[in-house]
Amino acid sequence: MDYLQLSQKYQTPLYVYDFDYIASRYNALKSAFNARKSLICYAVKANSNLSLLRHMATLGAGFDCVSIGEIKRALLAGAKPYQVIFSGVGKSDAEIKEALQNEILMINVEGESELDRVEMIAKMLVKKARISIRVNPDVDAKTHPYISTGLNKNKFGVDINTAKKMYLKAKNSNHLEPIGIHFHIGSQITEISSIIEAANIVSVLMRELKALEIDIKFFDVGGGIGIVYKDENEVNLYEYAQGILAALGGQDVTIVCEPGRYIVGNCGTLITSVLYEKFNKDKRFVVVDAAMNDLLRPSLYEAHHEIISLKDGEKSNCDIVGPICESGDFLAKDIKLPRLQNSDILVVKSAGAYGFSMSSNYNTRGRAAEVAIQNGTDRLIRRRESFEDIIALEKDYL
Ligand code: LLP
Repeated sequence: MDYLQLSQKYQTPLYVYDFDYIASRYNALKSAFNARKSLICYAVKANSNLSLLRHMATLGAGFDCVSIGEIKRALLAGAKPYQVIFSGVGKSDAEIKEALQNEILMINVEGESELDRVEMIAKMLVKKARISIRVNPDVDAKTHPYISTGLNKNKFGVDINTAKKMYLKAKNSNHLEPIGIHFHIGSQITEISSIIEAANIVSVLMRELKALEIDIKFFDVGGGIGIVYKDENEVNLYEYAQGILAALGGQDVTIVCEPGRYIVGNCGTLITSVLYEKFNKDKRFVVVDAAMNDLLRPSLYEAHHEIISLKDGEKSNCDIVGPICESGDFLAKDIKLPRLQNSDILVVKSAGAYGFSMSSNYNTRGRAAEVAIQNGTDRLIRRRESFEDIIALEKDYL
């Protein structure tokens, strides 16, 4: 990929996504479940660019959404409603209503009160809501605590006994149809055994439900497959899929999974230009035009993103920092790069997931432009945000 040419054509900071690589990641995961009914619901939150969603829809993916906004994005991009699922720990009445009106595949219910709300709203609409229940299997995903979700101390889902109670209630309701069972224990999981452990626990529950004539058709194992940022182990998709199949022990269901990072993480880069270098005594800083508002992960999770320089030279230690007025505004700390000057280009790797989608206008900085590369050609898929864009919702109230 010619990063220099792209930076000159579209300016920086710039997100670039390799759509062909995305297709190969999707296809690899889909074929790991070969010969079984499966639905890969791409987790929109990882990267919700409309053109990227359209690309996923063209590949045949379904979508895992956590707000009505994400559902509308997916539908606008060409998603089939019966391949859309709605997860999330707090859904408003308006969101539940619109999701039901759109006839999506199912709502992943995260608590008893939410089940009551969904039932009430479905009744009002004279509909039967297709639901699944998010079970919290109390399994440690062994990942960063901010992105771990499968322990009882986390806010997500319900314990097994509560889930059973909810399924029985749903079975006896005229306005609820329990068709799925769901868990998601965390993100960036590189020890796949924890997902398999959760699958085994939830599979036992599913068998018990079947015995109670609750006909679960979808076994949703969530997302969370980790990727390589630095020196992590590459997840073996064959072991992942085989582990899930073994956990099912022959139960005839459609396997749903909700990968976000696995599909897009390694397929995106953030290109940034050097503004200048500065030294505070012996400490070397490289100040670049991308900041924590563009890529929050290093600041928020101390996440590692490899940064490469397009220029060679003798290397020394430096921090890569943005122009934002916070000491936490860094993209990398203590990495080795050659001496750099204004307009030199740095490439921040593996930024396709939770990069642009977590970006903001902090410090009144316009969000970056986004470009797709497909079949050897590049195209803009989101233009750079202007000052006018940023103030659009305020200026009429002056
Ligand atoms: N399904 C559910 C219910 C989720 O909550 C998530 C992510 C996914 C699927 C997709 O997970 P993935 O396959 O991408 O791991 N901002 C953090 C990640 C937060 C993940 C939140 N939930 C980061 O930058 O690392």
